[in-house]
Amino acid sequence: MSKPFYVTTPIYYVNSDPHIGSAYTTIVADVVARYKRMLGYDTFFLTGTDEHGQKIMRAAKEKGMEPKDFVDELAQKFIKLWKELDISNDLFIRTTDDYHVKTVQKLFQKMYDKGDIYLGKYEGWYCVYDETFWTEKDVGADKLCPVCHRPLEHVEEENYFFKLSKYTKPLLDHFKTHPDFVEPDFRKNEMLKILEGGLEDISVSRTSFNWGIPLPFDQKHVIYVWFDALVNYVSAIGYGRDDEMFKKYWPADVHFVGKEINRFHSLIWPAMLMSAELPLPKKIFAHGWLTVNGEKISKSKGNAVDPRVLVNAYGLDAVKYYLLRDISFGNDGDFSEDNLIVRINADLANDLGNLVHRTLSMVNQNFSELPSPKVESAVDEDLKNLLLKTIDDYFKYMEKFKFTESLTQIWDLIKFSNKYVDLTEPWLLAKDPSKHERLGTVLYNLVDVMRNVSIMLSPIMVKTAQNLSNKINQKIDVNLLGWHKTISGVKIEVGDPLFPRIDTTIWKKVIKMVETNEQVSDKKPEITIEDFAKLDLRVARIKQAERVPKSDKLVKLLLDIAGEERQIVAGIGAVYTPESLIGREIIVIYNLKPAKLMGVDSNGMLLAAKDGEKLRILTVDGFVETGAKIS
Ligand code: MSP
Repeated sequence: MSKPFYVTTPIYYVNSDPHIGSAYTTIVADVVARYKRMLGYDTFFLTGTDEHGQKIMRAAKEKGMEPKDFVDELAQKFIKLWKELDISNDLFIRTTDDYHVKTVQKLFQKMYDKGDIYLGKYEGWYCVYDETFWTEKDVGADKLCPVCHRPLEHVEEENYFFKLSKYTKPLLDHFKTHPDFVEPDFRKNEMLKILEGGLEDISVSRTSFNWGIPLPFDQKHVIYVWFDALVNYVSAIGYGRDDEMFKKYWPADVHFVGKEINRFHSLIWPAMLMSAELPLPKKIFAHGWLTVNGEKISKSKGNAVDPRVLVNAYGLDAVKYYLLRDISFGNDGDFSEDNLIVRINADLANDLGNLVHRTLSMVNQNFSELPSPKVESAVDEDLKNLLLKTIDDYFKYMEKFKFTESLTQIWDLIKFSNKYVDLTEPWLLAKDPSKHERLGTVLYNLVDVMRNVSIMLSPIMVKTAQNLSNKINQKIDVNLLGWHKTISGVKIEVGDPLFPRIDTTIWKKVIKMVETNEQVSDKKPEITIEDFAKLDLRVARIKQAERVPKSDKLVKLLLDIAGEERQIVAGIGAVYTPESLIGREIIVIYNLKPAKLMGVDSNGMLLAAKDGEKLRILTVDGFVETGAKIS
């Protein structure tokens, strides 16, 4: 039987707008889950939504909705996003799920029976945004939340308390006997400092609102949202419901969390588990924040980048590569679109893309199928040694969640392979028939490297790895990592380059354009009639339409505008099929500066109405000659 592996992300506040910073936790956890699955672990990967609490109740009220209807609608946004990001979670848990509600009550009862829950009076401060209690000594004279700096609310309530203080010593002991319990080390030290100062009991129920799980023994109270949320990690895998499943996956191998919620996971959650007499998770890994110009990415700061916009423009694998390679996991890291483009052009299009394209082209120009290695030379030994070292390092680093290091090793191998091409000069070998066997060996060795690269990249860049292994006609099989395990005699498919280069000058404007399109509902500043007159809007007829390769959204259109032919690229492919567009009359911005979208020239832009996911192109009400002006 294969060994179990249980990995979790935090459950997301259902009313938050996911951005690239918050999606980061899930993207990384997905890589780890895929890596462990590749190694044959019986992996369970959990994510979900956190749906109770005062913040959500207020937001629902503002919308005039029942909280349950409100969260039902919002949860779909996350389910859909994770699909779009190809997240491989085994379950999506919602804290409003019936089984979760029952588990929370059960666990609470257990802690109560143990004598760890008592009725008391809470007087202090509460941050509704972070759903966090703060004591007088935590907050300054300004009474702002120490984490998000929003105004705090004063709370005076009869609450149930959890005897967290009782667990200070057992937790300290656990930290000492399990030095890897919290990682990275500097975050563990932050927790140890809090522990050394002693923990205080915490309030774990509320009475001033009712959107939460009622206490089993006192229905006036709902359970504090963090207490409710943390329990998701055990309710998802059958605590109190499916003993076999629970025994298999608990304790979790790793909880991935952002640094600001480390305290809840590394102190409060373990204490709750101790009280319920359950084993503690093996590891909590608290990563840093994605920032823009040093500031945490967050919707409220206006610096949020929508992951779907990024993925649509640059491709999922490129975005994932950039995040894992450029941002050292554990530390904060600045997100920069410029650096993303540099990585795509230098590492993906140039280093990897060129290696693959030129090697495979040479195989097909000189051989009918992949040759086998026959004539070795000393430089082959260098390539082999580096390959074997890279494989060792890959495992070493992946096990420690050191993704930057792991990808750096793989790219050193790719770079050396390009050097190997320069050193062995296969284009000269191809000219001399007596050197054909040596040529075959050189090309085989390079394909062998590519096969290993495709296996190592497969948990990280899923499509790229598949694409590469299809080109070289080899299996992605982790047991076949190693030198000269490539099957020769197979057909090679050169196909399109793995990654198109990105034109830096034009591309970023495109992203901006897409982003502004996304925010059509936002009010824009007033303009004058002269501003409007700058727009040259015309009627055009669609003559031809076809999809832009490798894009789900972009469609290339050939337009007739008063006899003139024009090509534009429009992001309407997710809603309209190319065939359904032919013959339609549309409105275009005729004097828009030309741009290139995914390598395709676009000379104008069509107008469309957008309402969330809905999109409809604008047209004219009756027949009008093309070229007609719109005013
Ligand atoms: N609901 C709680 C978690 C409960 S778990 C029992 C929560 N939700 S959240 O939606 O605010 O955050 C989800 C994840 O996104 C957290 O890991 C958080 O740290 C992460 N991030 C949110 N903004 C982030 C960045 N700018 N950068 C990196 N991670 C960030 O907290």
